[in-house]
Amino acid sequence: MNTSDSNSNIIWHEGKITYDDRCENLGQEGMVVWFTGLSGSGKSTIAVEVERELIKARKAVYRLDGDNIRHGLNSDLGFSAEDRNENIRRIAEVAALMKDAGLITLASFISPFQEMRDFARKKAGEDNFIEIYVKADVETCAQRDPKGLYDKAKKGEIDNFTGISSPYEEPEEPELVLDTTKLSLEESVKKVLTEINS
Ligand code: ADX
Repeated sequence: MNTSDSNSNIIWHEGKITYDDRCENLGQEGMVVWFTGLSGSGKSTIAVEVERELIKARKAVYRLDGDNIRHGLNSDLGFSAEDRNENIRRIAEVAALMKDAGLITLASFISPFQEMRDFARKKAGEDNFIEIYVKADVETCAQRDPKGLYDKAKKGEIDNFTGISSPYEEPEEPELVLDTTKLSLEESVKKVLTEINS
């Protein structure tokens, strides 16, 4: 298969409904709220509560989560740097589509590389993207170890484990930092909601 040839035969088909039409219909702006941080830092826990609060406020919201997406769309991917990049590339595309549909899209992925987080921002559009660094040091995450994965990684039973045998690049300019070693869950959720509504 020659990809460039087949791509040149694919022509964009414009619809009659615009992004603004969809937003007007839903009474909200589409947005991608991107949670990044180590495994066990609290990304999913916070996103789950934020989703619940937004639903209570009658917003149209959808949550994408690393562990869940890896059961389906990205079940063919592992944890090499290359696979993680492909994981985030696909999610960035999906999240941008959801944003285009007018949804508040909550994405929680370790997403350890700044380059791919920047890619997700570019796809969603600068004005519609919030990067949230869910910050907890590796010792704390390893102590929490809700899935027992740090224990396994330290014993050498899991390769390329983020924070142990694979790098995590801290966000350069996130819109929000949540230090979950200091903040309660309620405090973190409140900060995210304030950021979304600002
Ligand atoms: S990412 O690095 O590609 O963004 P993603 O968020 O999709 O990762 O998946 C991370 C989840 O996969 C973790 O929360 C953890 O439960 C599980 N996991 C399994 N193996 C690894 C590993 N080697 N490194 C990090 N997380 C892993």
